[in-house]
Amino acid sequence: MADLQERAKVSPTAARPWPICGLVLALLLAGSVATCQDKDKEKSEKAPRTLLDLAKLSEEGQDVTKPAEALKEKYKELKGVMAGYKSRARKGIGTGPESPEDGIETKIIALSKQAPTAATLKKEKADLIRVGHVNLAVAEMARHYKPKKAREGKTRKDWLKHCDDLKQGADDLIKAAKANDARAVQRGAAALQATCNRCHEDFRD
Ligand code: HEC
Repeated sequence: MADLQERAKVSPTAARPWPICGLVLALLLAGSVATCQDKDKEKSEKAPRTLLDLAKLSEEGQDVTKPAEALKEKYKELKGVMAGYKSRARKGIGTGPESPEDGIETKIIALSKQAPTAATLKKEKADLIRVGHVNLAVAEMARHYKPKKAREGKTRKDWLKHCDDLKQGADDLIKAAKANDARAVQRGAAALQATCNRCHEDFRD
């Protein structure tokens, strides 16, 4: 910089293009800083406030690892996250048409017992994909909670393994629904269901 100023003094004509370049550069920089700020704002406005928000972010294709960490502040206990599996009447997220049995847990159990027909799968495809993303969201959230009680010999490593399995089952269910593969939907649901049971056995009951 000092060097440029020196040269400017010695030869004002040669130095003239620089201020213009500087101005253009400054405008470009200002422009890109402004867009970055806008993007940040957009993101923070979209920060999830509920488990369902987090599931929606996941459905939009976002990695929810970080947002899940932030959302943890809103749910003091894992119990509040797990309650998302209950029916709408019991303040859960629910799936499909409203009914006393519209909980996601009930849906997973039903699917694990019987594969949907092609027609049902077609009709419920979007719902099933959303169910998968709710499970992905739960899996990412659950990692951050310290298990209160554990069956003898069970450690945090086992806890995290159950979270990984939940994520895997959710991924499989989403893929199966997207591929219109009814048998794979059943397998994915059965894997999820087995994971719920294994974790509850180790850390809940
Ligand atoms: C990583 C371990 C883990 C996995 C995986 C898991 N859970 Fe849970 N779940 C728990 C624990 C621990 C509790 C008890 C929380 C408490 O009462 O503090 C619980 C509680 C619940 C509750 C009761 C919530 C309430 O309001 O009392 C429901 C419903 C539930 N889980 C459903 C499920 C379903 C459905 C799945 C599988 C799709 C699942 N859970 C997978 C650990 C897990």
